[in-house]
Amino acid sequence: MTTTREALGVGIDRLRAAAVDTPRLDAEVLFAYIAGVDRTGILAHPEALVSDGQLAAFQRVVERRGAGEPVAYIRGMKEFHGLALRVDPRALIPRPETERLVDLGLAETMWRLAEGPRQPGALPVRIADVGTGSGAVAVALAVALRQRRVPAEDVTILATDVSADALDLARENAVSHAVGDRVGFVEADLLPPGSVACDVVLANLPYVRSAAMSDLPRPTTYEPPSALDGGVDGLTVIARLLDRLPAVLVPGGVALLEIGADQGEAIGVLLDDRLPGWPARVETDLTGLPRVAVISRPPS
Ligand SMILES: C[S@@+](CC[C@H](N)C(=O)[O-])C[C@H]1O[C@@H](n2cnc3c(N)ncnc32)[C@H](O)[C@@H]1O
Repeated sequence: MTTTREALGVGIDRLRAAAVDTPRLDAEVLFAYIAGVDRTGILAHPEALVSDGQLAAFQRVVERRGAGEPVAYIRGMKEFHGLALRVDPRALIPRPETERLVDLGLAETMWRLAEGPRQPGALPVRIADVGTGSGAVAVALAVALRQRRVPAEDVTILATDVSADALDLARENAVSHAVGDRVGFVEADLLPPGSVACDVVLANLPYVRSAAMSDLPRPTTYEPPSALDGGVDGLTVIARLLDRLPAVLVPGGVALLEIGADQGEAIGVLLDDRLPGWPARVETDLTGLPRVAVISRPPS
């Protein structure tokens, strides 16, 4: 019989030979997935014996990882903002840096809710998550609001995407985190046509330059190109959303747009062109890199 240590060793060697960046971590995570335990469980018991069935299953997932498939798609799960989200090739795998967008959106929402006691019949805080993908931002925000005991009727969250497949996945995530009643899903190019009034617009839209798509790391090629390709300058989709903001953001409303770490200056130039006079700043991530453009519509 093979021990856990031996099985892991073979897996690590295979992933190292395939030039995977983090062979040990990936092998451990995949082994834990196959064994149905958490990673600390397998590290604590390296002498535990592995059944033939588990070994074969582990070898299969190691081969998939070695061929380039992301660990998150193999496991069908990604941790995001403290939640276990279902992920598969219908949508982008949510990235840790997008948690900043959720935190900023949550702060904006709580600040608006705290403005004073809500009168009966008062409008809810209206939020849109544009390009929701797996639903990561909308679902994480809805869960965080529920945890803060914000009544469902005080906030509406509209999540949009051009991909019907991504929206199906987003709905599954909303239901499995018990916020299906707090998030509405709509297939739309950016936002539905007609009258949409928003207090807060959140968006993590595609922002990779088309010419850089072929340089993306191998695992990223498993994700939908339409979730990544931001056009010639990387900001084409975001620019189209900026053009919609005067029609959808209420006076005093705010848009929080995730950008690439190298787009801090470019978004400033774009904003001066598209929304002159609208106050804006760029929030950085934990490593100090530009991450979220915060754009306010001046109060009327
Ligand atoms: C970078 S992914 C982000 C997904 C998710 N918000 C997240 O943070 O993990 C961009 C998403 O925007 C969607 N998208 C691209 N163009 C769009 C458009 N014009 N209108 C609405 N959604 C769009 C893609 O289908 C994709 O799901």
